[in-house]
Amino acid sequence: MATAPFSHATIDALAGTAAMPTAQILSLGSYVPTEVLTNADMEALVETSNTWILERTGIRERHRVGLDETASSMGARAAADAIAQAGNPVLDAIIVATCSAETRLPSTACLIQRRLGLGGMVAFDINAACSGFLYALSIADSMIRSGALRTILVVATEALTPLVDYTDRTTCVLFGDGAAAAVVGAGESGGIRALRMAADGADAHLIYYGARPDDEDSRQAIRMSGPGTFRSAVERLSDIATTVCADAGWTTDDIDWFIPHQANLRIIEAVAKRLGVPMDRVIVNIDRVGNTSAASIPIALHEAATAGRLAAGQRIVSVAFGSGITWGGVALEWTGTPTR
Ligand code: ACO
Repeated sequence: MATAPFSHATIDALAGTAAMPTAQILSLGSYVPTEVLTNADMEALVETSNTWILERTGIRERHRVGLDETASSMGARAAADAIAQAGNPVLDAIIVATCSAETRLPSTACLIQRRLGLGGMVAFDINAACSGFLYALSIADSMIRSGALRTILVVATEALTPLVDYTDRTTCVLFGDGAAAAVVGAGESGGIRALRMAADGADAHLIYYGARPDDEDSRQAIRMSGPGTFRSAVERLSDIATTVCADAGWTTDDIDWFIPHQANLRIIEAVAKRLGVPMDRVIVNIDRVGNTSAASIPIALHEAATAGRLAAGQRIVSVAFGSGITWGGVALEWTGTPTR
């Protein structure tokens, strides 16, 4: 695997012996639209079956945006929740991960800023598809560790169902909509221990937005070469999980909770098996939300925290893989967040 040139080791080398703060997730929020598309609904739309979808993906249902909902409206709801949970701190920046912005310009970050009346601080988007949350977290982590900023709102939000072709059964059953947000701040210990990002544009053809490969006149939509993506995802997710564990000074046996991107239950099970992590230590919610791209990891993390499954001091590893192709991993020591 081509390892990312950028990691904590890079920043530590630049800083020399200077004491650096750690970046911690101070609070979380999430939002999914109320409308639910079940596998029975998918059977009515396209030639598929509940059995096929469940056996091949683990998905039972996914959420779909209403007519008045967008990436920025969902992101703003999740962000408002996270900001309130953190006790309304002064924010220095908003970083939004999305590949489904409702406008090319301005950025979703600025639209969320306007919706929440948060004018003044830095606000920008990044697009790393399903790896977006970990990429955004990595940027926040470096800004905080360098001492440049102290408190950053990271939002991951995706309105994917309007970008799906409901005549293409190979992709339309997979995707759902949703958003999650994290307030990330400086601390003295715990928090993010290791983070890596990586990408390889040579595999850009695996997942893209465009016409069907066999019909250039078909509508523009999310397209994916499923089996190729599957194989690549299993290999890269396993490798990056092992790498961030090593960066953190852990082995995969030390993982208390493994929170992978929710793309396919079989991918999750294959990666957990390679790592030797039993499934009762893996957070899975793909059955209820489908693949929500960048929002998938923070939605799962928020669900786990709200359900009281995460305890302070536990070691969490999270990994993602998406269009680009992009991938990434984080090892973090849970510091606890307020939940309701
Ligand atoms: N219902 C019924 N049959 C279907 C469906 C469906 N919804 N979709 C495909 N099939 C058929 C195919 O046409 C094929 O039929 P054939 O054998 O007659 O040709 C058969 O089922 C097997 O198709 P495969 O594509 O080989 O099925 P596979 O087991 O690989 O599962 C899937 C497909 C679910 C897409 C899987 O490959 C996968 O999850 N891939 C990875 C997805 C992923 O990780 N994405 C990453 C991020 S996404 C992002 O970045 C936005």
